[in-house]
Amino acid sequence: MLSINKESFFYDYKKLDKRFNLSWDRTYEKLVNFSQTSDIPIHNWFYYQEGFSPILVTRILSKLGMNKPGMVVFDPFAGSGTTLLTAKKSGMKSYGFELNPFSEYMIRAKTTNYSKEELDKVKKFKVPKFSKIKRVYDKYELSIIKNLFDEEKLIKIELLKKKISLVKNEKVKMLLYADLWSILAQVSNYRKGGNGLKRKRVMKDYDPFVEFNLKKNKMSDDLQNKNGFEPHIINDSCLNMDHYKLPKFNLSFFSPPYANCFDPFEVYKIELWVGEFVKSYDELRVKRKTALTSNLNANIHKQIDKSHRTELLDKIIDYLSSKRLWDMRIVSMLDIYFNEMKNVLEMIFSKTKKGGFCVVVVGNSAYGNLSIPTDLLLAELGQKIGFKIKQIIAARNNETSSQQHSNLDKYSEYLRESIVIMKK
Ligand SMILES: C[S@@+](CC[C@H](N)C(=O)[O-])C[C@H]1O[C@@H](n2cnc3c(N)ncnc32)[C@H](O)[C@@H]1O
Repeated sequence: MLSINKESFFYDYKKLDKRFNLSWDRTYEKLVNFSQTSDIPIHNWFYYQEGFSPILVTRILSKLGMNKPGMVVFDPFAGSGTTLLTAKKSGMKSYGFELNPFSEYMIRAKTTNYSKEELDKVKKFKVPKFSKIKRVYDKYELSIIKNLFDEEKLIKIELLKKKISLVKNEKVKMLLYADLWSILAQVSNYRKGGNGLKRKRVMKDYDPFVEFNLKKNKMSDDLQNKNGFEPHIINDSCLNMDHYKLPKFNLSFFSPPYANCFDPFEVYKIELWVGEFVKSYDELRVKRKTALTSNLNANIHKQIDKSHRTELLDKIIDYLSSKRLWDMRIVSMLDIYFNEMKNVLEMIFSKTKKGGFCVVVVGNSAYGNLSIPTDLLLAELGQKIGFKIKQIIAARNNETSSQQHSNLDKYSEYLRESIVIMKK
């Protein structure tokens, strides 16, 4: 194979920036991540590291004139439910997929309609009396459970779980469980960071009973008078969206996992295990294999065709194959990632009404000292499928991507998070 000159990519990237009308707009900088969400009711129940801000959704929807009540919005990677919750607030109908069962549960809890009586019942729920549980760690296969929680804290969590399980009203029960899952990381000895969990440097002695009580009052206050169209949420891979009967959408608004080797299941390990969404490593492995192939725990041996390959992607794949990467499986991971994204975009295209939009918020990554411009590559795929690329807004430089930042040189400008706006 002829070795490819890294220099030559710069010209390709610049050409595509121009073709897709790329412009920088730093006023979006804080909106493409979760940082602006901490004071927004309901959205702020739980810190979702990969989420974008509801203000971003509202702003783009209004820019595109796609914020009319009754319109249909779709999010194939619903995450913490930012798009679906914002759609509900605007009187729009919405549909979404989310593969992680814990995330899907939280979206459901946030977006369901509750009666005043149900919200009062949540407030009135009393935490159980403390009583010792023998060998409380034993029910978990999770190897780090003893590191995660001091014994007394885990006992309190288990006592809460038991008492909530006896609640008869299913919606009240769901909200109380969501409360408990939302405080797990806070009362644990670990915090979310980068690609997983890190031991907290400063330990604050949060009491699960106290935090649970505070949260349930906030949750029921936040939900007063918030009823509207409940989103339709499906706990499955969006790659299976053709198996479901969905209406035509006015707009899709989403952020897929970035191709940066971060495993979304790793970050939510505490909630998945202690919330009993997974009970064994085998179960977890199966779920990881159905996630989008954006990390090395996904199904990187999947058989794919080459229908997603563009000239630029071919060239990137060849270039990376000739380099010594920190893990050579990254080459097939990227190839499968773009193949799957092509399939998702294709299904979305066929479900989008004429004149409708598809908005993708995505971060680029870097391997072999080269930035991989996921924003441009997805725009190329969208165009190939039939979308018109209206604009790409570059919002900020990526801070964390892969281990390969060091020698990016002028390609560091391509390590960015962008909003790709396509129209049918
Ligand atoms: C970047 S996050 C989305 C965040 C979301 N926009 C928000 O504001 O909360 C991507 C989500 O896609 C989910 N996911 C990964 N693979 C999936 C698949 N094949 N189908 C559906 N969801 C998937 C992950 O669990 C993660 O929650």
